[in-house]
Amino acid sequence: METILVTGGTGYIGSHTVVQLLESNYNVVIVDNLSNSSKAVLQRVEQITGKMPTFYQADIRDEQALTDIFNKHKVSAVIHFAGLKAVGESSQIPLEYYEQNIYGTLVLCQVMAKSGCKRIVFSSSATVYGDPASVPITEQFPTSATNPYGRTKLFIEHMLSDLHQSDPEWHIVLLRYFNPIGAHPSGLIGEDPKGIPNNLLPFVTQVAVGKRTHLSIFGNDYSTKDGTGVRDYIHVVDLANAHLKATEKLERLTGLRKYNLGTGQGYSVLEIVMTFERVTDEKVPYEVTERRPGDIAECWADASLAKAELNWSAQLQLDDMLVDAWRWQSGNPDGYAS
Ligand code: NAD
Ligand code: UFG
Repeated sequence: METILVTGGTGYIGSHTVVQLLESNYNVVIVDNLSNSSKAVLQRVEQITGKMPTFYQADIRDEQALTDIFNKHKVSAVIHFAGLKAVGESSQIPLEYYEQNIYGTLVLCQVMAKSGCKRIVFSSSATVYGDPASVPITEQFPTSATNPYGRTKLFIEHMLSDLHQSDPEWHIVLLRYFNPIGAHPSGLIGEDPKGIPNNLLPFVTQVAVGKRTHLSIFGNDYSTKDGTGVRDYIHVVDLANAHLKATEKLERLTGLRKYNLGTGQGYSVLEIVMTFERVTDEKVPYEVTERRPGDIAECWADASLAKAELNWSAQLQLDDMLVDAWRWQSGNPDGYAS
């Protein structure tokens, strides 16, 4: 049985990926410092899969801790989720973002190289396309960054690319996620943001559950179908599945590969609110406010490369994403602290 080390494995996307890895009979070793997640995730994962992953509460910047873990387990590949991800916060504390994301990945790769494990799947983001000139976005589009978070993703992509150039034994997949939402259909694991959510979906579900009075829609004067921002929302279960396909691909890969992970379909903020109300029968009061600085009008993926090379495509629809997000939120109003 192969062992996959998952950094950030108790986090939102990590936990859903861990479930699928366990269900596919991989051994899973999680490294997470719990800075943005809860240990309670582990029991929930066990409830779903009947298996408990090996867990280390450790920081990816801690070279000694990582070395000990790699000495203890014969790791065949790493799926690397750990890092900080809040766009707005990254402008307030940029050094923290550079240290955790870039330095963290550097230490991880150094330890991997020393231990002889040279296979990695990395969580990148559609943010590396900056403000795209057109949609849908293919992997060939020019990259740029508009905030420190995006710059860390872009820099790590370059770093991994240089690493592969220097030593072709490195097998690397960069996954550029569009907008992950939804939760496991069991309602046992889901997104549990600390404090006020930055992202649309957790805000919508927190309004519906009564934790917040109303949603602010950031601008309705974009040149989009109804004036509100358009994004490519993807079910976290579909996203997790792409990591299994990418891990399989690592075995027969030559070269570094990059894939967009989205559905290829864009929905506006108003469409999200209306669809959520329809499928859950809950009300989401909202008011339209100013545009949020740094937001782009629209962004959706051309995900045909992932289909062609990974044999992966998103299977779940917007209704599924919203029903599952609501099952998680309504069953766990205070997330894992519920
Ligand atoms: P998350 O915060 O839920 O998960 C990240 C996990 O990493 C958390 O459990 C956190 O405790 C852990 N962590 C953070 N810094 C660490 C460190 N230094 N050492 C060890 N563990 C550490 O976030 P997520 O939504 O699951 O995102 C996972 C990855 O996907 C991130 O790299 C993120 O940038 C990327 N991504 C997320 C989105 C999104 O909208 N959720 C979009 C594009 C890309
Ligand atoms: N929005 C609102 N009100 C809110 C929150 C969001 O109207 O309270 C709107 C935004 O203006 C945008 C849309 O909802 O039009 C989606 O916003 P999110 O914050 O949920 O997502 P973003 O597309 O801004 O960013 C997300 C991740 C980034 C990642 C990017 C591309 O947060 O980390 O997708 O993958 F880089």
